[in-house]
Amino acid sequence: MEESDKIVEEALAEAEKATTSRGLYEAKMRFLGRTGKVTALLKSMRELAAEQRPAFGKRVNELREKLEEMFAAHEEKVKRQELERKLQSEQVDVTEPGRHTAKGALHPITRTKNELIDIFAGMGFEVFEGPEIESEYYNFTALNTPADHPARDMQDTFYITDEFLLRTQTSAGQIRLMEQKKPPIKMLSPGRVFRSDDDATHSPMFHQMEGLVVDKGITLCDLKGMLDEFARTMFSSSSRTRLRPSYFPFTEPSVEVDVSCSACGGKGCSLCKGTGWIEVLGAGMVNRHVLENCGVDPDVYTGFAFGMGIERIAMLKYGINHIRLFTENDVRFLEQFKD
Ligand code: DAH
Repeated sequence: MEESDKIVEEALAEAEKATTSRGLYEAKMRFLGRTGKVTALLKSMRELAAEQRPAFGKRVNELREKLEEMFAAHEEKVKRQELERKLQSEQVDVTEPGRHTAKGALHPITRTKNELIDIFAGMGFEVFEGPEIESEYYNFTALNTPADHPARDMQDTFYITDEFLLRTQTSAGQIRLMEQKKPPIKMLSPGRVFRSDDDATHSPMFHQMEGLVVDKGITLCDLKGMLDEFARTMFSSSSRTRLRPSYFPFTEPSVEVDVSCSACGGKGCSLCKGTGWIEVLGAGMVNRHVLENCGVDPDVYTGFAFGMGIERIAMLKYGINHIRLFTENDVRFLEQFKD
């Protein structure tokens, strides 16, 4: 009797001391486990006289049940405490200010290039990229540019050898594509080009976007219609274009394309130097010699081509006044082109 009361007291004290499930389990085992005190008591029954055993056995069983109940109740309590501690330690302070991660953005040239590709891809153009180191054949000869043309001058062009140079125009891509693919052709060729040139609007390295359309029955009207659509999407829904006669060796006739000034709507301002128009690109009907050079029959097929400076388009669209801003990597400038 006494022993049993003592055990209950001890067990209760130990259960109350336990603050974790593990600690409580260990305490329980000290009493009810295989080598526990209650189990030892049961085993000691062997030493009793036979008539004392049933009463003793009953007592010990009652003791075991009592302890089991007591431990079960404590287990629930300890589990609840554990959960509370866990929730407390994992609590998120929603009022704490967030950590700031600097967000990058696309370079304005990449952004403008992507915009141009989107516009022309929407009209069915596919992108073709040529090499930046070109042979004088693809850069000049095949484009009907005679050996005495000023663009071939050492002053304008970065030669690597007599035969190879840094391409001066993406127009070289026209030839490479027409050698690979027969009409109908609708090609867009973006890329870096290089010229010995340096002022507020010219840089020795800049980007161009070339376009080429070749099929049966293509006329200058197709070019004009496509340019109008381009200007409306790129600049403003009320933009218009006009063609002025010009000269390029690889087109005949050749035109210079102006877009109505989006700053003044065509009335005349400082941006358009009072004319209401801004020159944006060169274009024309592909010269028959160029088609012949690529094995395309000029009596069956006609085409138009155009080439624009991506820096120039970006400068007009975003009001950038110096071309060097694009390559200086000044974050204060670049940050302004975040979405
Ligand atoms: N390649 C010319 C340049 O760099 C631009 C150009 C003009 C491209 C007329 C063309 C074109 O395809 O038809 O100035």
